[in-house]
Amino acid sequence: MNKTRVLAGMRSSGRLHLGNYLGAAKGMIALQNKNNNECFYMVADLHTMTTPFDKKTIRAQSIDVILDYLAAGLDPNKSTIFIQSEVPEHIELSFYFSTVVSLAKMTHLPTFKEKVRENPDFVSIALVNYPVLMAADILIYKAELVPVGIDQEPHLEVARDIAKKMNGTFGTNFPEPKRFTTKGEYIPSLTGEGKMSKSIEGSYILLTDNYEQIKSRLAKVPTDSGRGNKIPESGGVAVLFKAVEIFEGKEKAEEYKKAYLGKGIQYKNLKENLAKAIYSELKPIQEKRKKLEKNTDYVEQILVSGAQKARTEAQKTISEVRSKLGLNPSGVLS
Ligand code: ADP
Ligand code: TRP
Repeated sequence: MNKTRVLAGMRSSGRLHLGNYLGAAKGMIALQNKNNNECFYMVADLHTMTTPFDKKTIRAQSIDVILDYLAAGLDPNKSTIFIQSEVPEHIELSFYFSTVVSLAKMTHLPTFKEKVRENPDFVSIALVNYPVLMAADILIYKAELVPVGIDQEPHLEVARDIAKKMNGTFGTNFPEPKRFTTKGEYIPSLTGEGKMSKSIEGSYILLTDNYEQIKSRLAKVPTDSGRGNKIPESGGVAVLFKAVEIFEGKEKAEEYKKAYLGKGIQYKNLKENLAKAIYSELKPIQEKRKKLEKNTDYVEQILVSGAQKARTEAQKTISEVRSKLGLNPSGVLS
């Protein structure tokens, strides 16, 4: 039986938060643990270079993400784990893809506009090319499933368009990849506005936060009097109910909602119980991370063999595409 290919990645911008964990990493782990999947998981350090970056820290930040991946349950015996820039074939494929993509379409994407707003003085060609490189990441392995949060949907749409265009124009056989969804596909910000994100201070809980840090981050979530005749659908209280549902179960969340409509809620107790529940899920991950941090040789070894395995697969696709485009399939004179 042919296995279903899976690919996912996260940029190397530091340690993971609960949004990354629930929206992406948990999906990556769930797919890895099914026998009929073949998974490729990377750190997208080239995507990090599409906005201002620091050459002194970029690789260390990639390793930080790798450590979080491994601690959260990615298993190098089941998945191919690597750093994107160590498989340079992705860049070659993205160039071929860029020949079938219009500039206007890329500059109209909401994700592009958001980045321009954040960094108006650094709108590079690499940034415009962001979704094209992401399509290459996925399609170079002919991956059909991509475990990412809902904010990445516009990029998957681009990947499907590119697959169709390449197949129609050049006769390649790329699949049209779909997003693999989890119940944490959108984790709201602790500020009560927008999504949990690394770039918004006060919005997140890190996978490496201890109990006291979690408690103090939750303490800042804005609340109300604890009673009302309608369950809030946005803002801090909605965030708390969502987090309770994820970490303490649906029943507990229903209990609080009933209390909200009736006798009222003590947020101090709710936040304390929630902090305990979150910490008890994160504690084993943190313990595993501490052991891995001391074992840098082991981590580097995973990355070397991951890149080797990924390159073998990537080179097959590159050779096929070069041939379909009328180029020398081997890329060198032979
Ligand atoms: P950030 O917004 O913190 O910079 P990234 O854009 O690096 O996060 O996202 C990495 C992965 O985590 C992506 O798959 C993204 O969809 C997912 N993700 C990020 N934030 C959230 C969130 N708040 N809820 C669910 N998934 C998220
Ligand atoms: N754009 C993704 C993010 O911000 C990261 C990424 C790069 C990615 N290449 C990918 C995700 C390929 C899934 C598949 O999170």
